[in-house]
Amino acid sequence: MGALDGKVAIVTGAGRGIGRSEALLLASEGAKVIVNDVGASLQGMGDDKHPAEEVVELIKAGGSDGAVNASDVSSWQGAHDLIHQAIDTFGQLDILVNNAGILRDKMCFNMEESDWDDVIRVHLKGHFATSHHAAVYWRGRAKAGEDVSGRIVNTSSEAGLFGNAGQANYSAAKAGIASLTWVLARELGRYGITVNSISPRARTRMTEGLFSEMDKSDAGFDKFDPNNVAQLVAFLASDEAADVSGQNFVVFGGDIWAMGGFHPVGELHRDSAWSITELAEAKSELFKDASPGIPPFSFF
Ligand SMILES: NC(=O)c1ccc[n+]([C@@H]2O[C@H](COP(=O)([O-])OP(=O)(O)OC[C@H]3O[C@@H](n4cnc5c(N)ncnc54)[C@H](O)[C@@H]3O)[C@@H](O)[C@H]2O)c1
Repeated sequence: MGALDGKVAIVTGAGRGIGRSEALLLASEGAKVIVNDVGASLQGMGDDKHPAEEVVELIKAGGSDGAVNASDVSSWQGAHDLIHQAIDTFGQLDILVNNAGILRDKMCFNMEESDWDDVIRVHLKGHFATSHHAAVYWRGRAKAGEDVSGRIVNTSSEAGLFGNAGQANYSAAKAGIASLTWVLARELGRYGITVNSISPRARTRMTEGLFSEMDKSDAGFDKFDPNNVAQLVAFLASDEAADVSGQNFVVFGGDIWAMGGFHPVGELHRDSAWSITELAEAKSELFKDASPGIPPFSFF
């Protein structure tokens, strides 16, 4: 008995890295999995179906079922075809894990228009396009009187939550995904759909060389194994998480933080507008419990 027996899942960007671990774990828990991956380089160039094909082979060798989809998730038609491949191949869709992503890290003054457009397109539109087409399908089923138990798990990042220098495009897209998660959760809850996002840390080609302690394992526990992240995703995809929605989790090794979103760190109130001079005088009151400077990157 697996936690996802009878479910059909899509994982985007599942040929490598975190998505690969997610697809393999969902399948080992009983889900049939569409393994989407355009097979791009880290910067989003090229296409190669082999990584996705290998993941499907592993899924089948493990006794579950899967199929390759090579759509670009940031294409409206490609996202439509991806959702409908799951329905046409396996008869239904229950779980959508939006994970595909690319990087074009540059300081804002060096960034080219295409670096901005491509990263925003793959991450932000790539999350919305698939979610839109899945939502059309699930809402249609709910309106036809069927019981729907849909799951969307998005992939944000600490770069989006805190803003990382050198990643204006990526951080903006990931913050957008965190915000999109709240909107989708609010809009789709009435149809039986939960929507959550994760902000992971794991060893993949995206982070090779980034985390200095990545090669270390703690008493045999590999904190940077992407499978640690996949476990949380499988939980969020399961019936056990039917009451969890609109949440963003930072997940790293055995550590999981449920993040509270934006919240005030100081406040001023009165029944008239504040002048520049008055704001300058009230600044120390507004920031009495916080610094007026740039907030820290991490809460660790
Ligand atoms: N690795 C980390 O520590 C970390 C940290 C924060 C966030 N993330 C996020 O996790 C997700 C997975 O990252 P990863 O580290 O596994 O990277 P990865 O490069 O190993 O995998 C990303 C996969 O997405 C695929 N892809 C890229 N563009 C696509 C498109 N348009 N359509 C379909 N597939 C596409 C790539 O071919 C690749 O296989 C990304 O959204 C990333 O931003 C990762």
